[in-house]
Amino acid sequence: MSEKKNILVTGGAGFIGSHTCIELLEAGYGVVVVDDLSNSSEVALDRVRSIVADSVAAGKAPADAVDDLKFYELNILDRDALSAVFDENKIDAVIHFAGYKAVGESVEKPLEYYHNNLTGTFVLCDVMREHGCKSIVFSSSATVYGEPESVPLSESAEKKPATNPYGWTKWMIEQILTDLHTSDPEWDVVLLRYFNPIGAHESGLIGEDPKGIPNNLVPYVAQVAVGKLAAVRVFGDDYPTPDGTGVRDYIHVVDLARGHVAALKWMAGKTGVEVVNLGTGKGSSVLDVVHAFERACGKELPYEIQPRRAGDIATNYADPAKAKSLLGWEAEYDLDRMCEDSWRWQSNNPNGYAE
Ligand code: WQD
Repeated sequence: MSEKKNILVTGGAGFIGSHTCIELLEAGYGVVVVDDLSNSSEVALDRVRSIVADSVAAGKAPADAVDDLKFYELNILDRDALSAVFDENKIDAVIHFAGYKAVGESVEKPLEYYHNNLTGTFVLCDVMREHGCKSIVFSSSATVYGEPESVPLSESAEKKPATNPYGWTKWMIEQILTDLHTSDPEWDVVLLRYFNPIGAHESGLIGEDPKGIPNNLVPYVAQVAVGKLAAVRVFGDDYPTPDGTGVRDYIHVVDLARGHVAALKWMAGKTGVEVVNLGTGKGSSVLDVVHAFERACGKELPYEIQPRRAGDIATNYADPAKAKSLLGWEAEYDLDRMCEDSWRWQSNNPNGYAE
């Protein structure tokens, strides 16, 4: 690899990880992905290469950007394998996405979630420390706020993690990384709290590819639009919101990916711990999403009102002011654009990355 700054991306073949790889390569970073492919596909990385090759041809990425993506298929719990990656590559900073992320499944399998997400982070940080790499950007979640007392949510809002092991792992890892910095102030930690990432790369080549029936709203709506599912299930229309359905801060995954590049640029040469929300600051209801998707796909989408889903809250959206003042980052894309890009991905790849 060249003299570029090299970023290790754990979980780099996943939904947010793959989009972040593109932004990193275009911005002139070298990228080393480690991913065990347990919930992702190597095809995503082939497509990242082809998207970046187009960017190179268009003069939007450095000439060597495609060669600067390396991939190691490994689980970060495999200490020796992870350590070998650091031996073979000069890693300047880590973006840590790898982890289990299904809220419902985490309630069924708490031991697996705590083990994979926490122990994975312990092994990663220990190997980083051993190799003198002390800069980490962590993929946290607005789930750490739990049921908000008021919106918009700023970073200083009280943390009341949702009552599920997935949410607790995000909250605990934030605390662990903060303690790590307290013990050794050379650590540089940025905790990015994502709101609801949706959308896909504008090429339609990469996007979200959930296994089985999607848990999250937009992948579900996309599968209704493509004819794989019969009707959108709207979980509750009696919330104290303008149309009675739940309100969330949906953020385009490309905006989110760019937030990581902004964080890396900001943190270079600094030490400390910073917590930053990545959201748009705008709330949209379930029905707003359904109607935006209808505009994107050009057809009406059937939906049915169902009871509230256990554990859901009425409303959350970000106060994104700190991301702007600290990182110089703000979201660009609106809900219509998010749905247009989701639809392009879903209609071009009805079965995701599967043949
Ligand atoms: C959004 C809205 C639902 C599905 C979760 C995690 C969070 C983060 C993102 C990531 C809510 C409603 C949903 C459906 C519906 N995790 N809905 N019908 O719950 O805000 O956040 O995903 O890894 O930590 O908690 O996202 O997309 O599931 O729901 O009506 O079929 O859509 O009730 O109002 P959520 P979501």
